[in-house]
Amino acid sequence: MSCNKKAYITTPIYYVNDIAHIGHAYTTIIADTLARYSRMSGLDTFFLTGTDEHGQKIEEAAKSRGKTTKEYADEISATFKNLWDDFDISYDKFIRTTDADHMVGVQKAFSAMHEKGDIYKDTYKGHYCISCETFFPLLQLVDGEFCPECGKSTTVVEEESYFFRLSNYQDKLLKYYEEHPEFILPKSKRNEVIRFVEGGLTDLSITRTSFDWGVKLPENFNDPKHVMYVWLDALMNYLTALGYGKDDANMEQWPARVHLIGKDILRFHAIYWPAFLMSLDLPLPKHIAAHGWWTRDGEKMSKSKGNVVDPRAVADAYGLDNFRYFMLREVPFGGDGDFSQKALIDRINSDLGNDLGNLLNRLIGMSGKYFAGSVDSTNVEKYYQSELDDVHASLEKLEPLLFDMQIHRYLEELWRPLTVANKAIDMYQPWTLMKEGKKEEAMALNGLIAAILSKVSIMLYPVMPEVCTKISNALHFSIDNKSWNAMVKDTQLLDIFVLEKIDPLFPRIEEPLLEQAEPIEKKPKVKVKDKVKKEEKVTEGVALIGIDQFFQTSLKVGTVVKAEEVPKSKKLLLLQVDVGEDEPRQVVAGIKEWYSTDDMLNSQVCVVANLKPAKLMGLKSEGMLLAAKDKDGLCMIRPEKPKTAGTPIG
Ligand code: MSP
Repeated sequence: MSCNKKAYITTPIYYVNDIAHIGHAYTTIIADTLARYSRMSGLDTFFLTGTDEHGQKIEEAAKSRGKTTKEYADEISATFKNLWDDFDISYDKFIRTTDADHMVGVQKAFSAMHEKGDIYKDTYKGHYCISCETFFPLLQLVDGEFCPECGKSTTVVEEESYFFRLSNYQDKLLKYYEEHPEFILPKSKRNEVIRFVEGGLTDLSITRTSFDWGVKLPENFNDPKHVMYVWLDALMNYLTALGYGKDDANMEQWPARVHLIGKDILRFHAIYWPAFLMSLDLPLPKHIAAHGWWTRDGEKMSKSKGNVVDPRAVADAYGLDNFRYFMLREVPFGGDGDFSQKALIDRINSDLGNDLGNLLNRLIGMSGKYFAGSVDSTNVEKYYQSELDDVHASLEKLEPLLFDMQIHRYLEELWRPLTVANKAIDMYQPWTLMKEGKKEEAMALNGLIAAILSKVSIMLYPVMPEVCTKISNALHFSIDNKSWNAMVKDTQLLDIFVLEKIDPLFPRIEEPLLEQAEPIEKKPKVKVKDKVKKEEKVTEGVALIGIDQFFQTSLKVGTVVKAEEVPKSKKLLLLQVDVGEDEPRQVVAGIKEWYSTDDMLNSQVCVVANLKPAKLMGLKSEGMLLAAKDKDGLCMIRPEKPKTAGTPIG
């Protein structure tokens, strides 16, 4: 997909009948990620979010709380704005549908569609779901009464109404979908829309008379009892935010690059909205991108069920950037996702801690130990060109994935360079290079790791701005359009610099940090010692232990980087095992009867990493390997698939 020079990115505007939950945060975080990437890549970016404040639903919510509708809307709108501000969401404008400029713009659009002959007055008789703010024909209702979308009871409405000639646009819409296969993303959702439109479009009632809380018709219509249908009002925000109907100040941003929405509001955005725009003779947005639904333990989140996950609580407990990464990485865009703390913790400990954080630690360790903290990239290409080629091949794939809304794949691909880096350390072993006096090569390896970390942190920045800024500070560069051009688009490397030491970015999380978000599997807070006493039972000769006791043992994946025979020993091999630390551990293992040095070299093993060092035949042993032995002999316990050295087992 080609990039034009502008990127207008929007979230839906959120109803102010309730406060934000992780579903809302998800849409906003995706949009923020796209906006940050667009800015970094030099596009003229405009990022819009806001609140949708009119309609019967809001009027009723305010009434039930004994507030005026405006008071209530002000209050809830502010909670959204505050949340996005606290989340450092980089929006350029926060629009409210109660803004005077917006309302004038909606009236202008109404007049323009009317002049075009697309609006006429008639009587509406039908069923209306207040919760979904949608009319439904009788045939679509469940048991002749209930809303097909949310299951709530509908109200029979018979009132005078203005209609939009949606039926006139059926063929034009189908033609547009046909000619622009990328209009609706993901592509799987496109067919649903096409089928719906092929089923026939009836004209749309676009004004109501039975309530008051909405945009009035333009004065020259002389019809004061009508207010605009909330979806016409709401969709227009994408134009009025640019000054449509007022001064057109930012209309050069139109058409939008992408409207991000949830799948529940796809019909409004993929059918009504393009029809309104065609009526206004305006170009259509490039993409309507619909994401899936977040559930909690497989159920829809709702206040009445008490299972709503509060995004602020999650971000406070686990870190905002970690939460952002989790949401974008965990679920393929368009699919549904279930929120669980376990999944979040796994992502933090594994992807972020083991793969990214640990790599930075290794770099700090290596350069600190051998080069007084300095990193020099001068000879990286001389020794590690093929690694650099692999990294750049991955980087090239990233941008199209982002704008095709394959954000989980973007992150997956972005992790490949980290694997290249971790593997390079395991393979070339800076400690060996240093021992062999190959200082230039060891420094080049240092430079390679720093280069990979710099490039990854630039491309990860839109998802994890705070963490990546910390990484770039440690590596003495700034993430901006200049560094993106130089190090991602071009193949440049960092200058010579001295690394700043920083605190570990992803301290390991051992247990759920939030009670509210995870009632299940909560561990009782018992002191380890008491717990052992209480729970120590013996079953069939095996002492039962608590999980805490098990976690006292540190088990890690190790890669054998050197294997030698122990002189005069029939049983022992002397191994150097990389467990993700600065230097490999020396392990003396009693496995010679079953394994040769060749069998062991470059193989992976499971290491007990927190045993007190012992001496065997005068040789220090700093760990133990897991193995199983029966009458047929001994076999090593190994990870089923290759894992980064140092990955914790548990
Ligand atoms: N006001 C309309 C949008 C008008 S846009 C012109 C609206 N508001 S909403 O507050 O109900 O929803 C806003 C967005 O949040 C929608 O994209 C919706 O899909 C999303 N989500 C609400 N609950 C959600 C989940 N549980 N999971 C994921 N997203 C969800 O619709």
